[in-house]
Amino acid sequence: MLKVALIGSTGMLGIDVNAALKGSTFLVKNYNSKNLDITEPGSLLEVLKNFKPDYIINCAAFTNVDLAEEEKKKADAVNHLGSQNLAEAALMLDSRIVHLSTDYVFDGTKKTPYLEDDEVNPINEYGLSKLKGENAIKDSGASYIILRTSWLYGKNGKNFVNAILKLADSQKKIEVVSDQTGCPTYTKDVAYAITEIIAKDNAKNEIYHLTNGGSASWYEFALEIIHVFKRTNCEIVPVNTDKFVRPAKRPFYSVLDSSKIKEDYHIELRYWKDALKKYCNDIGYFVR
Ligand SMILES: NC(=O)c1ccc[n+]([C@@H]2O[C@H](COP(=O)([O-])OP(=O)(O)OC[C@H]3O[C@@H](n4cnc5c(N)ncnc54)[C@H](OP(=O)(O)O)[C@@H]3O)[C@@H](O)[C@H]2O)c1
Repeated sequence: MLKVALIGSTGMLGIDVNAALKGSTFLVKNYNSKNLDITEPGSLLEVLKNFKPDYIINCAAFTNVDLAEEEKKKADAVNHLGSQNLAEAALMLDSRIVHLSTDYVFDGTKKTPYLEDDEVNPINEYGLSKLKGENAIKDSGASYIILRTSWLYGKNGKNFVNAILKLADSQKKIEVVSDQTGCPTYTKDVAYAITEIIAKDNAKNEIYHLTNGGSASWYEFALEIIHVFKRTNCEIVPVNTDKFVRPAKRPFYSVLDSSKIKEDYHIELRYWKDALKKYCNDIGYFVR
């Protein structure tokens, strides 16, 4: 039975990964910042040594994109050095690492979906810290798979879907950015893909893009949320990015091309609108 150490098990994605792994034949141990701080290499190694996992899945991250501008040392400590610490432990323990990364490693100037080997050029501190994390894993000598995903939503975290639903219950009109385009992605679908990858047990030392199919602007995404969750009394109004001044810049276009993972692992996540319907089915119409 494969042993899996799930790091960041209390996060939005981590909770769904844990649920997906539970339905399979892996022996799973969960870790969060309370019982394994990835910024502490010594204690991290001690904790993992006791378990000797075959796989380390790293869902831990500093994910507040705007706060990362202000707290860039902290973002770097978790997303860069924390990932490096995990990769070094993986090398020492002969574990394979599955690491989550982001579309925000790209600058968003491309007009067609980003491929894995397209030039990276993060435009915010979060993206930079995640890119450094990717590079540290690649350079560590550990066996790895890096999965870049984007625009995640799920039941257990702050995310765009839940934010729109809450606003729609209290406002008649919501202004949403229409000049940023990406791939909305359901955490349960990513979690399922991770279990498939581990079950194959053949980490290839590669980066893969992994998102739901298709693409949308935040505005189009919001329109679909209102439609699927039946909040059509609320009007969604398109606005440009410059209407909302935020600490961190976002790429205007960060659609990821997921055909490499389809080719290598036969994994193809459903179209984003179908994933959103599934999310609605899973959680019901009301968000707490
Ligand atoms: N959210 C998105 O839209 C998005 C988009 C693209 C990529 N991603 C990537 O997907 C992954 C999962 O994101 P998410 O949204 O699920 O994250 P999240 O909900 O913010 O959860 C972060 C997790 O990291 C843990 N953590 C933070 N600092 C830690 C530390 N020093 N040591 C150990 N654990 C620590 C947290 O544990 P505690 O609960 O103990 O603090 C929590 O379990 C991340 O790699 C992220 O960069 C996310």
